[in-house]
Amino acid sequence: MEKTIDESVQGTALSVENKASNDRKLYIESYGCQMNFSDSEIVASILAKEGFNTTNVLAEADLVLVNTCSIREKAEMTVRKRLEKFNALKKDRPQMKVGVLGCMAERLKHKFLEEEQIVDMVVGPDAYKDLPNLVQEIDEGHNAVNVILSKDETYGDIAPVRLNSNGVTAFVSITRGCDNMCTFCVVPFTRGRERSRDPQSIIEEVNDLWDKGFKEITLLGQNVDSYLWYGGGLKKDFRNASEMQKATAVNFSQLLEKVALAQPRMRIRFSTSNPQDMTLDVIRTMARYENICKSIHLPVQSGSNRILKFMNRLHTREEYFHLIDNIKAILPDCAISQDMIAGFPSETEDDHKDTLSLMEYVKYDYGFMFAYSERPGTLAERKLEDDIPEETKKRRLGEIIALQRRHCQERTEQHVGQIQEVLIEGTSKKSDQHWMGRNSQNTVAVFPKENYKIGDFVKVRMNSCTSATLIGEAIGYSKNN
Ligand code: SAH
Ligand code: F3S
Repeated sequence: MEKTIDESVQGTALSVENKASNDRKLYIESYGCQMNFSDSEIVASILAKEGFNTTNVLAEADLVLVNTCSIREKAEMTVRKRLEKFNALKKDRPQMKVGVLGCMAERLKHKFLEEEQIVDMVVGPDAYKDLPNLVQEIDEGHNAVNVILSKDETYGDIAPVRLNSNGVTAFVSITRGCDNMCTFCVVPFTRGRERSRDPQSIIEEVNDLWDKGFKEITLLGQNVDSYLWYGGGLKKDFRNASEMQKATAVNFSQLLEKVALAQPRMRIRFSTSNPQDMTLDVIRTMARYENICKSIHLPVQSGSNRILKFMNRLHTREEYFHLIDNIKAILPDCAISQDMIAGFPSETEDDHKDTLSLMEYVKYDYGFMFAYSERPGTLAERKLEDDIPEETKKRRLGEIIALQRRHCQERTEQHVGQIQEVLIEGTSKKSDQHWMGRNSQNTVAVFPKENYKIGDFVKVRMNSCTSATLIGEAIGYSKNN
């Protein structure tokens, strides 16, 4: 079930039925990371109050929004093609307006309007609350732009509209931005400084999701382990501010515990962890609570110390192994997944071999693997030459993917013969007689439907598997049901 380069370039149109009184149609398409999909739900919520009902029929849209990704050049090219298509549609539907949101909006700013003239509105990831004003401006015939990044916007006070939801799983964002400055990465420039959301508003959103019938949430952030809430406002209110701050601060493992306790039957996942910031406390908290899923997405990018240094990843290969050893000791059943980059500037065959040997050590359950793509403005672009030929990048990427495929198969096979809890998410893509769900490790399982229904927690005996899917039979409800 490894996913490769293309996961970020498949746009998804999302829609939800909204208030009957809404009379304008919003078509919103999202690209890239989970955070973008989550942000689109915030945008839909903000615009619902302005009279916009979402649709997934492009031809009836009054406003088309594209929530964009800048992480690799290919992702940007896909978005550009879509924007050209939307622009062409405007000839038949002159009242239709097109806006670009997300990382490309932030990266290219006014360029979309001045040089390219293919959109009416450009809105960066921290400016969505300004959408009502910006929409009014385009209604009045002007172009509209807001790409101001914020130090404190978390959208904690906006209840997202759940788009194209299965009614079972949902994202809850807990941090925005990133301060890590990996040299290849555009995110710190497009999404700004890292900030954490008030834990109370996170718990309220989780409680609300449970009340609405959701059974699993994923806490989202670029770097969840650096979540830190200081208890807002204490600095000016108390003389001994730093003491008070320490006493009331909430870090990620504490947040995880609060969420696990608030809804003991809700499954909890989180993404993404950064090796340099992940603490033993987080791993121990995962061990203490059954409802925290045993699955950690722990991108490493490279197995070579030399390359890790050039990437400004602030840990060594040995420190990473130490963390992996701790995870395996404390959480023997935990799945571990990776992100990997092939062909970073100056990468030698030996560096590449280090990546393969690191993968052999960890034996990841699945991964997201990419060829290095130089991004304008990043430190790598400014200081390092993109000197690995495309065919070498592709060959190395191919070797990484092939190895991951083998490990994925081995990992999936380890579940065969076990009885595991699966949360039913929907009908299997391959057979309408089968349900599809996931076990705690995030491995997909399919089994005959019988009388079970979407959202049930079911005990499934795993009888066989393909490379990434378990095939089983339900033997009853699990105790969580
Ligand atoms: N911490 C973030 C990472 C976002 S980017 C998170 O929430 O997952 C996702 C992945 O894209 C990175 O882990 C990295 O493997 C890949 N990536 C980022 N910049 C890249 C680039 N310039 N070229 C190729 N891959 C890149
Ligand atoms: Fe990018 Fe590194 Fe942050 S990959 S999102 S700068 S942790």
